[in-house]
Amino acid sequence: MFHRAQHLLLILTFMLITPLACWAGEAAHGPQAKAGKGPAILLVTFGTSVPSGQAAFVNIEQQVKKAYPNTEIRWAYTSQIIRKKLAKQGTVLDSPEIALAKLMDQGYTRVVMQSLHMIPGAEFHEIYTNGKLFGQMAGGFDKVMVAYPLLSSDEAMEKTLQIVATTIVPKERQANEAVVLMGHGTHHPSDAIYSALMLKAQKMDANMYVGTVEGHPSFDEVKEALVKKGIKKAYLVPLMTVAGDHAMNDMAGDEPDSWKSQLTKAGIESVPVLKGLAEFDPIVDLWLENLKTAMQHVQ
Ligand code: CO
Repeated sequence: MFHRAQHLLLILTFMLITPLACWAGEAAHGPQAKAGKGPAILLVTFGTSVPSGQAAFVNIEQQVKKAYPNTEIRWAYTSQIIRKKLAKQGTVLDSPEIALAKLMDQGYTRVVMQSLHMIPGAEFHEIYTNGKLFGQMAGGFDKVMVAYPLLSSDEAMEKTLQIVATTIVPKERQANEAVVLMGHGTHHPSDAIYSALMLKAQKMDANMYVGTVEGHPSFDEVKEALVKKGIKKAYLVPLMTVAGDHAMNDMAGDEPDSWKSQLTKAGIESVPVLKGLAEFDPIVDLWLENLKTAMQHVQ
């Protein structure tokens, strides 16, 4: 379904997006640089209001704590809608900017923000920009680093697909049954990463597909391919940090427009896997590699 020219274009797009590097900001750090508190780790995610989705965050925090004991670890949610919803229920979560301001106010001089997003998309670039600006403030941080999200290199993409195929998809899956990953998708140019992932998935396993809720490849493209191939059963896997609203409703919901319902209508039985990627340690390890790289720059 992809031509060679498209393949090259995708690789080029990926190369253009990723070299933005994880440097966010570095103020002149003189002799007092090591005197301040830190480094603190700020885990930045889109957030979720689905209670069962919290399991993913609990797991990440445990793994980060294990790798960096005695380090201040905090959370920030990039989604204002989720923060407002949770605040109404009595749970207050900071935005990345508020979390940074608090750390600065409390005397931390070095911070690593770990993007727990899938791709270097709109949210990643926003925290990258604001992290950089915080790093430039006078009398504040000596160093602010923003560590890459999950799908930030060719290697990470391949490893993610391998983990999905070997660890996340139930063992009973037969080779003639499909695996369909549900990515979010975005208007941001990094949406091309999902198409690059689709190419890799197809190369690895002809029955593994990647679709998105809001971008490309679209679910219609995937469904069409499954029907054409005569697939009878498909495992649906959220390509998302948590199994939140998109996984529960857009993917596995009973509404007629959910992926599950649309596949049923097309004569394809579907088995949704209702777990977020961050519930699987090998995936968390990939984020930890990105965190380690950034942490080495603030020690
Ligand atoms: Co969404």
